[in-house]
Amino acid sequence: MAEKMKQANKVVITTLLENHSGIEPNFTAQHGVSFLIEVTVGKNTKKILFDTGPSSEVVAHNMKYMGIKPDTIDMIALSHCHYDHTGGLTGILKEIQGHDVPILAHPSLFEIHLVAGSGPKPRNWLTRPIGMVGENTEENIKKHGGFLTLASNPFELMPGVLWAGEIERVTDFEKTPTLVTRIIRDGKVLNDPIIDDTALAINVAGAGLFVVSGCSHSGIVNIVKQCIKFSQVKKVKAVIGGFHLINASNDRIEKTISALKELNVEKIYSGHCTGFKAQAAIYHGFGDAFEELYVGKVIHSDL
Ligand SMILES: [Fe+2]
Ligand SMILES: [Fe+2]
Repeated sequence: MAEKMKQANKVVITTLLENHSGIEPNFTAQHGVSFLIEVTVGKNTKKILFDTGPSSEVVAHNMKYMGIKPDTIDMIALSHCHYDHTGGLTGILKEIQGHDVPILAHPSLFEIHLVAGSGPKPRNWLTRPIGMVGENTEENIKKHGGFLTLASNPFELMPGVLWAGEIERVTDFEKTPTLVTRIIRDGKVLNDPIIDDTALAINVAGAGLFVVSGCSHSGIVNIVKQCIKFSQVKKVKAVIGGFHLINASNDRIEKTISALKELNVEKIYSGHCTGFKAQAAIYHGFGDAFEELYVGKVIHSDL
């Protein structure tokens, strides 16, 4: 984008799904992420569902207790193909009903992605699909009103909202993805650079950028730098999402925190795959400017 990105007047980001449910007894937690991003420009507000968690039932359940009607969702954006961010897609489309829903994702969405199993035996012996699984076939998605828009480059999705596209790996400590996975392409099993991992950035007048990521396999600092580069907005108000530092070295965690500080990131809201050790280190580095994510956590741009 040649020009500085436009500004939204307001954004409200509601955590529909996260690994923790906070203190609200009606909410249900599950390993995954789903945010409702409500962007106001002038008199118009658009609702973007960013990721769907692994199961639509859990997201729909939490939405019900938050008083959010699925049919008010204007579009869906997927951070990357992994099941904990996409598993609920077809189910959410069924919940929406009544109108077609644009779905923004990377062109590799339907390729077969694999991960070596983890956890107790025998799961750790098994390589299994980690991408679009179950009913999330292209055919099913279209049948239930999903209008797929597959794009790999950054662009302004609506005034004030950047789709970050494929993230350039510019930091020396984030050259490798934060998870070892494979991809099948042309009948060959290849190492997966997880090039589909991306983010949204909302530029709010008077506040700055709100960067919303899913798993940050491409490196959260790379993501923030990409959002700054393509929006041409230097002020980062908040970075939100899973940072996937759960198995990262202390060195990578420390360098990540230093880099976020150098970029003058004002607030951090992280959870999901960030990991306890990294969360503790972020708190140590950012103090009260760090807050944990949980189901029901709402982030307002005017806070
Ligand atoms: Fe992931
Ligand atoms: Fe994830």
